[in-house]
Amino acid sequence: MFTGKLVRLREYRESDLEKALQFVNQADVSLNLYPTVPFPYTLEDERKWLSSQSARNPDYNFAIEDLATGTYIGGCGLKGTDWKNRNTEIGIMIGHEEYRNRGYGPDALNVLIRFIFGEMNLYKIKLNVFSFNKRAIRCYEKCGFLLEATLKDEIFRDGRYHDIFRMVRFREKTSE
Ligand SMILES: CC(C)(COP(=O)(O)OP(=O)(O)OC[C@H]1O[C@@H](n2cnc3c(N)ncnc32)[C@H](O)[C@@H]1OP(=O)(O)O)[C@@H](O)C(=O)NCCC(=O)NCCS
Repeated sequence: MFTGKLVRLREYRESDLEKALQFVNQADVSLNLYPTVPFPYTLEDERKWLSSQSARNPDYNFAIEDLATGTYIGGCGLKGTDWKNRNTEIGIMIGHEEYRNRGYGPDALNVLIRFIFGEMNLYKIKLNVFSFNKRAIRCYEKCGFLLEATLKDEIFRDGRYHDIFRMVRFREKTSE
């Protein structure tokens, strides 16, 4: 159902646990994804997060797998969905480093975008990206995201302040 050219978005599984922990504890992921003080997650942190995922009360987080091999390679999802104003914020990581820079991120994002507009009937998708994360910025541009605002000196990382870019994509208006 949630399939692109390279990936399938699926539910998280118990068997993803150890890989998920490895993914979030990589510098390439943790320094680019979280604005907090970098500090390694424990297996227990990851287990709690995983067991909080449910279809009965979903926050719409998907595991990403490689369509060709079924390998679990990362995750993407939503947070802070505002049903009244019809917007949401998204996040993504291709945690498996061998799969980065090969088009898997944009493919997963395009599936997520289709889900958000086509199934959830939302209107605006927002995301935050650190100004030094050039790869992610390029990936978002390829998926049709535009710069909405620059938050000056919003994140302190590696000894100095950096900007955060707020990027957005709106649902195309359909003719009535
Ligand atoms: C960001 C991420 C989702 C992108 O997915 P991906 O599958 O690696 O993306 P792509 O295959 O499109 O490759 C990235 C693009 O950026 C370009 N790129 C890579 N490094 C770059 C750099 N340092 N400067 C400029 N462009 C760069 C690549 O050339 C490619 O563009 P192209 O297709 O026009 O050649 C993925 O790399 C990832 O999960 N990274 C770690 C976690 C993270 O940063 N998450 C996002 C937080 S906002």
